[in-house]
Amino acid sequence: MHSLLLLTLTALAAATPLNQRSAYTVGPFNTCSASDKAQTSCRNTTAIQDDCCIETRGGQLLLTQFWDWNPPKGPSASWTIHGLWPDRCDGTYEGYCDPTREVTGDQITEIIQQNGGHNLLRYMRRYWKDNASVDGNLWSHEYNKHATCFSSGRPECYASNKNTTHPQKDVFDYFYRTVELFKGLDTYKVLKDGGVVPSESKTYTLEEVQGAIKKAFGVTATVGCTKETGELAEVWYHFHVKGGNVYDGEYLPIDGGKSFCPETGIKYPPKKK
Ligand SMILES: *[C@@H]1O[C@H](CO)[C@@H](O)[C@H](O)[C@H]1NC(C)=O
Ligand SMILES: *[C@@H]1O[C@H](CO)[C@@H](O)[C@H](O)[C@H]1NC(C)=O
Ligand SMILES: *[C@@H]1O[C@H](CO)[C@@H](O)[C@H](O)[C@H]1NC(C)=O
Repeated sequence: MHSLLLLTLTALAAATPLNQRSAYTVGPFNTCSASDKAQTSCRNTTAIQDDCCIETRGGQLLLTQFWDWNPPKGPSASWTIHGLWPDRCDGTYEGYCDPTREVTGDQITEIIQQNGGHNLLRYMRRYWKDNASVDGNLWSHEYNKHATCFSSGRPECYASNKNTTHPQKDVFDYFYRTVELFKGLDTYKVLKDGGVVPSESKTYTLEEVQGAIKKAFGVTATVGCTKETGELAEVWYHFHVKGGNVYDGEYLPIDGGKSFCPETGIKYPPKKK
């Protein structure tokens, strides 16, 4: 009976689709006041008392994705994760805000494992791909450059960051929250539903690409193309965060900024394996 149950559970775990919402939690964070919790980043109507509670430094969040087709990275019917970035409310940004917190790709892997994030790592290895080198290089670049600039994701914002069973939870939470956001922003499907599919020969207008995005999300995104050749390369989704910090707040989509693509003749080459 026991071994049968174990077998069944193992089989279930193996069959769990990668896009299923995982069972991890963020935090625990320090307690926040009711007046802070009522605020939204970049739209606060009164002063934010504690910058751990509502993002005040980079209050405009960007979830960014790659279309890496040359060389092809990640599943051919999916975009891949670039990162989660804190822009200021006006769209300017800063990077590398705390050198003392910088981590290597190997350290990130270790921290996620120590926090029990085996499914998270499995997902990252599939969908968070470096285009030229080991994936950990992109992961550490994203954490060191961007995650260290959140006011509300700092170790000081945690109730028990020295927790020995969950060390450096702020590092885990960056990767976990970014992956969860990515799961809700399936660019490949969104474009496909709007008639924009990879092709060797067909080209698209910026309006067609933005139209598909707007139809699915209600707002535009920033769309990036390669400079010389006009191939789709990136999509950046913009948000404000309501009622909490960057890892536990609610993400409210806002219109993207200027796109970096030609108006017509946009290529969307297939990932050939
Ligand atoms: C929003 O919060 C920031 C940080 O506390 C503060 O500087 C700013 O004045 C607040 N905005 C409003 C409209 O109160
Ligand atoms: C990888 O991505 C970086 C940053 O987007 C870019 O500068 C570089 O040219 C890319 N390399 C390859 C091999 O595509
Ligand atoms: C340690 O961290 C975990 C997850 O972040 C949390 O559930 C648990 O309550 C923490 N333990 C202590 C003693 O704070």
